[in-house]
Amino acid sequence: MTDTANLDTLESDVLEQIGATTDEAGLDAVRVAAIGKKGSVSLLMRGLGKMTPKERQVMGPALNGLKTRLGDAITARKEALESAALDAALVSERVDVSLPVRPTPTGSLHPITQVMEELAVIFADMGFAVAEGTDVEDDFHNFTALNFPEGHPARDTQDTFFMKPDADGNRKVLRTHTSPVQIRTMMSEEPPIRIIAPGRVYRCDWDQTHTPMFHQVEGLVIDKETHMGHLKGTLLDFLAAFFETDKVEARFRPHHFPFTEPSAEMDVRYERVGQAVKVGSGTEWMEILGCGMVHPNVIRNCGLDPDVYQGFAFGMGVDRLAMLKYGAPDLRDFFNSDKRWLAHYGFSPLLQANMATGLS
Ligand code: PHE
Repeated sequence: MTDTANLDTLESDVLEQIGATTDEAGLDAVRVAAIGKKGSVSLLMRGLGKMTPKERQVMGPALNGLKTRLGDAITARKEALESAALDAALVSERVDVSLPVRPTPTGSLHPITQVMEELAVIFADMGFAVAEGTDVEDDFHNFTALNFPEGHPARDTQDTFFMKPDADGNRKVLRTHTSPVQIRTMMSEEPPIRIIAPGRVYRCDWDQTHTPMFHQVEGLVIDKETHMGHLKGTLLDFLAAFFETDKVEARFRPHHFPFTEPSAEMDVRYERVGQAVKVGSGTEWMEILGCGMVHPNVIRNCGLDPDVYQGFAFGMGVDRLAMLKYGAPDLRDFFNSDKRWLAHYGFSPLLQANMATGLS
């Protein structure tokens, strides 16, 4: 075909086909048939080589022009089809603003977080501020200042996790209790002192009521005329507020801690009902805290005069309290990160916000 008139016919045929397409697939088929590798225009271009120079002079530019125009027409059609598709979608796919939103999964607060918050609120009402220490402690704050004798086996009774010795041979520890915060507070603040110190503590232990990491809230009161009656009253008031009943029965058992004298442990009455733990009835006792009057040596170690200042301290197991209040039977489940367990025992963050701000 060396006649440009035929090219005109071909051009109008293809333009007509382009105009008749209704979707991208159809348009692409037309493109392939006309200017694709084996399309009609491309085949004609391949014939250029066999033409006389004179013919080629005419047909070369004619074919190139044709190819460009068809390409442009295809692009224009493609854009037109796309915008028509968009228009159609805008008309048919309306957003129904009256549909209810799909529920998005919300996280829940771990019972430990919940109980920590409850404790802070209860003790804040009694005038206690919150103090903090560090999880990695030195021997002085965790033991020595708390009147654990140097080299005494008492240092091992808490199944301590020791860190590798540092350059001068001292071994830091993962704190075995929150009592070092007593020391930090007495060394940095003037009495009267009234603080609680919530935090993680670590001991090498593992059974139904022991995990190697657990939580305590330490309490410390240092003032001029503090006595054991204040300690007992504070803890019994706390129990009633925490369990929201006066019926929780507690007993104080004499005990020994190097840092308090006299010392006691407090247990609450409970029973197991099926799998759950129920507080206030039954024949079993669960130890929930250690307490006592701060030992004069400890007060002296912190630079205060024990003849002027006395006080009491307690350290309660937050995890045990959570087990008792919310009925979870096995402490180990608290730290297994099982979402189903959390969904069951967890708390709504919104409710907690209300509780902390007193707006519920
Ligand atoms: N630190 C003790 C423990 O972890 C508890 C305690 C705290 C006892 C304060 C007396 C006073 O077992």
